[in-house]
Amino acid sequence: MAKFKVEFPENFYWGGATAANQIEGGFDAGGKGLSAADFVEYIPKAQRTKDNAMEITSEQIRKTLSGESKARHPKREGIDFYHRYKEDIALLAEMGFKAFRFSIHWSRIFPNGYDETPNEAGLQFYDSVLDELARHNIEPIVTLSHYETPYGLTKKYNGWVGREVINHFVRYAETVFTRYKNKVKFWITFNEINMITISPFTGGGILSDKEENAMQAKYQGLHHQFVASSLATKRLHEIIPDGKMGCMLARMSHYPYTPNPEDVLKAQKDNQDNLFFTDVHVRGEYPNYIKRFFIENDIEIVRETGDDEILKQHPVDYITISYYMSMLSSASPEGARTEGNLMNTLKNPYLQASDWGWQIDPIGLRVVLNEMYDRYQLPIFVVENGLGAYDTVEDDGSINDHYRIDYLRQHIEQMKEAIGDGVELLGYTSWGPIDLVSMSTSEMSKRYGFIYVDKDDEGHGTLERRRKESFFWYKKVIESNGEEL
Ligand code: BG6
Repeated sequence: MAKFKVEFPENFYWGGATAANQIEGGFDAGGKGLSAADFVEYIPKAQRTKDNAMEITSEQIRKTLSGESKARHPKREGIDFYHRYKEDIALLAEMGFKAFRFSIHWSRIFPNGYDETPNEAGLQFYDSVLDELARHNIEPIVTLSHYETPYGLTKKYNGWVGREVINHFVRYAETVFTRYKNKVKFWITFNEINMITISPFTGGGILSDKEENAMQAKYQGLHHQFVASSLATKRLHEIIPDGKMGCMLARMSHYPYTPNPEDVLKAQKDNQDNLFFTDVHVRGEYPNYIKRFFIENDIEIVRETGDDEILKQHPVDYITISYYMSMLSSASPEGARTEGNLMNTLKNPYLQASDWGWQIDPIGLRVVLNEMYDRYQLPIFVVENGLGAYDTVEDDGSINDHYRIDYLRQHIEQMKEAIGDGVELLGYTSWGPIDLVSMSTSEMSKRYGFIYVDKDDEGHGTLERRRKESFFWYKKVIESNGEEL
């Protein structure tokens, strides 16, 4: 068999990805309003009664606002990127980053979400961040909404359940497109848009306890996000003609648990449920298979005249995914289970898992990339992937995170193979290049970074930044354009 040489494209975007609420801190600085993430409490592992603390109730909101709750809110503190962005970006540049994905904290620009005019101090902050990136020739990839729905919108409309939120989002999008039109080309509307159906408060600022039919509410909220995304795409193309709009999916790939056709069918169903979101974003219409799901679950999407045309006329330009693990589907799901990204799954006997139980499956990434490219023929950007692990600082100050290097190496190898298979891959921004607050658990000890941040789960530490072994490894990967792994 002839040897087939695969290389990463010359202009491949190597880098890392973050979210405002997990790094910035300064939750009330510069006129910023509260957002959904600001309500998420840190619960020590021993006291946790559920997998994650992301789904908030009206009662928790009341207790937080009245000061009755004494819980810490680590996403209000982040890692102080708000004040240290220059130092942090310089470290990313030292690794040779070509791209940096971050989100704009919506409530920094429109403190309540529904304000008529933007907050200048918020706009200036992102001007400074973008200028710093430009100084280092790092391409910004900007997410408009990464679990940061302004609390004002929750209070007024119960988040994305309210149709009015579409207009507020579009106003926000237009504001930042106009302001940063010479600085940002790659945009993403909603981080992991599928999250709204798993954790509606996280994904859409929706308090489920306020809804009689929570299922209806989250799919209605999702419909509003789809329409908002298409309208934002339309405005992007008008304001920044060469701008590119991407959608973002937490790709939860499901394998059948056994060759039993019942399991195969279940896996197909679970994959449809996950790919539903990109199907709408890319094809501009609801797929036929979802109609049955809606009927069987008493969901009736309220649409306004023109919604279907908006979706059809303004699909996305490229697809982005987060990929951390694969899952198993079984028609009779009995057996040992393990944790995953806000969802748990049956254990796959062929896979190892991270310290948090997420099953590590590099080949699964190649499978996912091939399958999504076959389905859509659009360029794909892997905007999140990485290993959350405990790190130890040795006596000499070094951090030997070989486990992280192994994880990333194996995934990069599989991405390369996918390119060889014909997949058009734009880039790779691994999750949390600098340690940040965990989305699901608000821990600091669940670390993803090439750069260590001295802060613990209780919020203690100097915030000093330190290069890990993976820092030097990733620098070589980028320098060699993925040849030296
Ligand atoms: C993704 C999110 O789902 O997973 C990130 O977009 C998140 O915000 C990442 O941080 C890793 O999850 P966690 O819970 O380990 O922080």
